[in-house]
Amino acid sequence: MQLQEKVAIVTGASRGIGAAIAQKFCEEGANVMLCSRSEASVAAVAKPLAEKGFNAKFVQTDVSRKSDVEALVNLTLNEYSRIDILVNNAGITRDTLLMRMKDEDWDAVLHSNLTGTMYCARAVLRTMMRQKSGRIINVSSVIGLMGNAGQANYAASKAGIIGLTKSLAKEIGSRGITVNAIAPGFITTDMTANFSEADLERIRAMIPLAAFGTPEDVAELTLFLASDASRYITGQAIQVDGGMVM
Ligand SMILES: NC(=O)c1ccc[n+]([C@@H]2O[C@H](COP(=O)([O-])OP(=O)(O)OC[C@H]3O[C@@H](n4cnc5c(N)ncnc54)[C@H](OP(=O)(O)O)[C@@H]3O)[C@@H](O)[C@H]2O)c1
Repeated sequence: MQLQEKVAIVTGASRGIGAAIAQKFCEEGANVMLCSRSEASVAAVAKPLAEKGFNAKFVQTDVSRKSDVEALVNLTLNEYSRIDILVNNAGITRDTLLMRMKDEDWDAVLHSNLTGTMYCARAVLRTMMRQKSGRIINVSSVIGLMGNAGQANYAASKAGIIGLTKSLAKEIGSRGITVNAIAPGFITTDMTANFSEADLERIRAMIPLAAFGTPEDVAELTLFLASDASRYITGQAIQVDGGMVM
């Protein structure tokens, strides 16, 4: 098992990619703290994992609220006394053309996706520095690399995550902490559930592997970046996109 005894926080773990990452980490022996805004939804993922004998706990957290993030980190430290892995996966979309975009749509997406990632990373730094080890994995998107009409707020937040990742990697690399980003392409989850058949065909045609990704595809890379196998990799934004962007 690759994460035996490790302590991991996974944000946005109530469904989709975050739930798959939490499950994968549990299967690899980690103690996992799952969080999302909805306590009932994240409990519905964590409780079955705990019933199977995995070490999964959950807490309601809105990563866009600094006080929630501080409570998440304090709870994790009270439970386990250390934090080895942080996966910043929580994210939202509020898609519309920029001409029509309300300030609230811009602010909500930037605050949840980018500021929330910063809050969580900053909150675990002191602990990881004291440990002289840690893994921070930020979930960006290919949209942050290539942009997308109707997603200026989302693209800006995801491009921002890559800049944050590289800067933080340079700040704390000498303390034994790696910071990497994952840029998924089109992954089948609730976030991508409302596309028309025509749009799905158009997107599929852009993907050399001619298929959409699964949450498990993203979880496999996340596991690698969380494990000792990736010890010499930091500051990277690695795509899981079937070759969609190259
Ligand atoms: N699916 C794709 O094709 C794709 C592609 C590229 C990147 N991504 C990124 O991958 C990540 C996961 O996406 P997904 O497809 O699994 O989306 P999803 O199915 O919509 O799940 C999003 C998760 O984030 C949680 N969440 C949202 N805002 C939050 C907040 N402020 N605080 C805490 N939790 C929050 C949600 O739970 P609650 O509603 O309970 O809070 C949920 O667990 C996102 O960052 C997304 O941008 C997805």
